[in-house]
Amino acid sequence: MLFNIIYFRTQGILRLYRYGSYFLVKSSLGAFFVHWTSFLIIFKIWLKIVFGFVKINLVILMEYKVTTYDEEETIQLAENIESEKFSNMVICLDGDLGSGKTVFAKGFASALGINEVITSPTFTVVKEYFGGEMPLFHMDVYRLDEANVDINFDEYFLRGGVCIVEWSSMIQDKLPSERLEIEFRITSEDTRVLVVRPYGKKYEDLCEAVL
Ligand SMILES: Nc1ncnc2c1ncn2[C@@H]1O[C@H](COP(=O)(O)OP(=O)(O)OP(=O)(O)O)[C@@H](O)[C@H]1O
Ligand SMILES: [Mg+2]
Repeated sequence: MLFNIIYFRTQGILRLYRYGSYFLVKSSLGAFFVHWTSFLIIFKIWLKIVFGFVKINLVILMEYKVTTYDEEETIQLAENIESEKFSNMVICLDGDLGSGKTVFAKGFASALGINEVITSPTFTVVKEYFGGEMPLFHMDVYRLDEANVDINFDEYFLRGGVCIVEWSSMIQDKLPSERLEIEFRITSEDTRVLVVRPYGKKYEDLCEAVL
């Protein structure tokens, strides 16, 4: 939407930002702009110079930043993401209290065709909705420690529906490796910056399609 950043990370040594068809390459050797067509060649040469024949494990992380200026725009984003839904989709939401995680979940649920009122499942941890095009499992793990429940998260992630997890970073070790992460940052009373990170091909394609 507004802009997106892609960066490659090799243990924090190389960063690559995308601005339209240009890349800004920031490395320990300096920063420079290159057109995407010439980027791959320069990148290969750069790797050869810096690492020689050392095999490196390249981590590719994509990150999109979307600014919403009111609740409606956050709902709109949720609806756009819903339009690309697939079975066993996992959406992880993080951010401060009142940053818009439940607003997003409500937008997603209504786009799925769920007519029930969506309330934050803070004390129940998981709420299940079967009235839409696909089952929706809405989780809020903020008070997981206090709630006297034993939840098999893996089972939910594979039940053929969509899982939306508020405060997902609190169960980081239980999250599937492929997922969509959205971090909500409050920048003013009505403005939120949503940092969207896809993990896995399906989620990368989804971001390409809707952001
Ligand atoms: N751009 C925006 N996007 C989403 N919500 C917004 C925005 N601007 C203002 N708001 C308001 O912020 C509040 C977000 O509340 P919400 O319950 O969604 O937060 P939450 O992140 O789920 O909090 P909690 O961690 O307590 O569950 C709502 O009152 C909403 O109207
Ligand atoms: Mg909430």
